Amino acid sequence: MTKTPPTSPPDLPCKVRLLLSLLTLVINTVRRSNGTINRRLMSLFDLKASPSSKPNNRVKTSDVMVDPTRNLWFRLYVPAAAITTTTFRRAPRRGRLRQLPPRSGAYLSLQYEDGFDVLKFIDQTTIDGFDLNNVDITRCFLAGDSAGGNLAHHVAVKASDLHEFGKMRVVGLIAIQPFFGGKERTESETRLSKGLALSLEQTDWYWKTFLPEGSDRDHAAANVLGKEWKDVLGVKFPATIVFVGGFDLLQDWQRRYYEGLKKSGKEAYLIEYPNSFHGFYAFPELKESSFLVKEVRDFIEKLCYAPSGISFLI
Ligand SMILES: *[C@@H]1O[C@H](CO)[C@@H](O)[C@H](O)[C@H]1NC(C)=O
Repeated sequence: MTKTPPTSPPDLPCKVRLLLSLLTLVINTVRRSNGTINRRLMSLFDLKASPSSKPNNRVKTSDVMVDPTRNLWFRLYVPAAAITTTTFRRAPRRGRLRQLPPRSGAYLSLQYEDGFDVLKFIDQTTIDGFDLNNVDITRCFLAGDSAGGNLAHHVAVKASDLHEFGKMRVVGLIAIQPFFGGKERTESETRLSKGLALSLEQTDWYWKTFLPEGSDRDHAAANVLGKEWKDVLGVKFPATIVFVGGFDLLQDWQRRYYEGLKKSGKEAYLIEYPNSFHGFYAFPELKESSFLVKEVRDFIEKLCYAPSGISFLI
């Protein structure tokens, strides 16, 4: 008799298991079988934290509007003490996106454009009450987890040397368990199809809802190593760090992404946590969650304090 491999890590704290079960329940309740989301129900769980001008954990936050006609804005995080690093984070858009019909092709490019437009805005605009002279936008990093990792990749392609910025240079991409896929069923998708935190039934549903009508999972938004990989090969792609969890069914696609970058001569790093499931970093009680923070910090420092004159700073 063959032994079924485990689909979730051993020794997971009870609290984490409980929260994951609740999260799965919520996600499966707001997803409808016709490919739409029950937004009224979701808004009960999808609360927006307010920005704070008083330092919270030594960080001040404010929201900056980029384009009111489409409610595109981002949250700015500024360390209250001497500025060393500033994180620009693109917050999810609200408002107009809700009114778009589901499964519209425009959905996709809109979200990638939003991220790119925020970079162009930062490159060109003086932000009220924030001195850009203190921030080195020639060393900008893009970061995203899960679907955000997918977004960050596509924004990085747009923000490469295909576009001429003023000062802005994207030098690093932090892809935390990026959400990629394809028509093929990989070994990890089959083995972990009923995996903890993310199942194959869920990923199929997300792709079906997200991708334009009439396309399949080999669409370039999902299968980045497919037909349009040449777009990445041709550009000066930022140094990339990819985080992979051994209990995440998406891991085969993420490893292929890293290998694809390496094969194309790009600077790429792969960090694997064998006991981690999709979204593990949301749980500070897991040791891998602090390992990840340290790796990200080291990656940024390596790229920022490396000897000058090397190519990625050009
Ligand atoms: C999907 O189902 C919901 C709830 O039954 C319904 O309100 C909505 O109109 C449906 N949408 C589409 C596009 O079929």
